[in-house]
Amino acid sequence: MKLKIAVLPGDGIGPEIMEQGVAVMDAVASKFGHEVTYKEALCGAHAIDELGDPFPEETYEVCRDADAVLFAAVGDPKFDNDPTAKVRPEQGLLAMRKKLGLFANIRPVQTFKCLVHKSPLKADLVDGADFVCIRELTGGMYFGEKYQDNDKAYDTNYYTRPEVERILKVGFEYARRRNRHLTVVDKANVLASSRLWRQIAKEMEPQYPDVDVDYMFVDNASMRMIAEPKFFDVMVTENTFGDILTDEGSCISGSMGLLPSASTGESTPVFEPVHGSWPQAKGQNIANPLAQILSVAMMLEHFDLKDEGALIRRAVDASLDNNVRTPEIQVEGGAAYGTKEVGAWIVDYIRKA
Ligand code: IPM
Ligand code: MN
Repeated sequence: MKLKIAVLPGDGIGPEIMEQGVAVMDAVASKFGHEVTYKEALCGAHAIDELGDPFPEETYEVCRDADAVLFAAVGDPKFDNDPTAKVRPEQGLLAMRKKLGLFANIRPVQTFKCLVHKSPLKADLVDGADFVCIRELTGGMYFGEKYQDNDKAYDTNYYTRPEVERILKVGFEYARRRNRHLTVVDKANVLASSRLWRQIAKEMEPQYPDVDVDYMFVDNASMRMIAEPKFFDVMVTENTFGDILTDEGSCISGSMGLLPSASTGESTPVFEPVHGSWPQAKGQNIANPLAQILSVAMMLEHFDLKDEGALIRRAVDASLDNNVRTPEIQVEGGAAYGTKEVGAWIVDYIRKA
């Protein structure tokens, strides 16, 4: 297969983890005979510094013309601490989602047996938990009409039927490929937008008689996620609830540095770690590259390259089992590996497999 990949390393630890993601991609490509080409582009704080725009037009064109985007992370404290900043790196992420029409954000919450003790939850609750949150990504409060003056402000949680239908369809179909259990998360007891979601989901149910559907209010879902994470298989929800619930979900596995994600929709799909740019760790070779490497696996699986994705997952599992781990998950009393060393170990495993 020929693949054209747009590479957006972004800020902070982004370039370091991206280097390992690309090295793993190269190792898989040469093993399976795929032809991969890369084009790097600016985004985030870097792009603001150089071009005044966190998602410049030329970056958009590179993304649009690629088969997939591999994204690392954006963000820089110099913007967080400046309330007067007119442009922020995060706007680049939102612009990318909107311009590429990435309405479906797929965030798996997976646990690793050898790391369950790292979870803030009890090991028996976490062991075996495995679910996917499908978050609507281009609508809702993030993009609805906004207003702010000195005395009042509002954000509109606006959704249309086609927007809701297409994301619910992703949810139903995802559930079909997994354990056929879909939880629609909303706040239909209070919000009109949620009532529309629920109405449409109920209308769609008969098309998926093989999927068990339940409806859960978001407050209850946030509780259930930590009280009984194994209850969930696939959950689908609106943009804002999905943002909050996936941060909660990301800590279940014990390290945010482990979780990849995919955003798909109308144009080029984007694959990226769930975590951010961790500016404090920049240049220190301590960031966990696994979320980036697993994002490469998700990308390959998106193109139906199942063996390729599976090999990366096996290599990641083997690295953890062999205690080849970055500091935040290192074995007590054992040595920690650097970002580069974890990446190199995984590349080596793939070459030898
Ligand atoms: C995420 C992030 C973004 C969001 C921010 C950085 C705009 O938190 O990808 O979850 O809120 O969607
Ligand atoms: Mn978030």
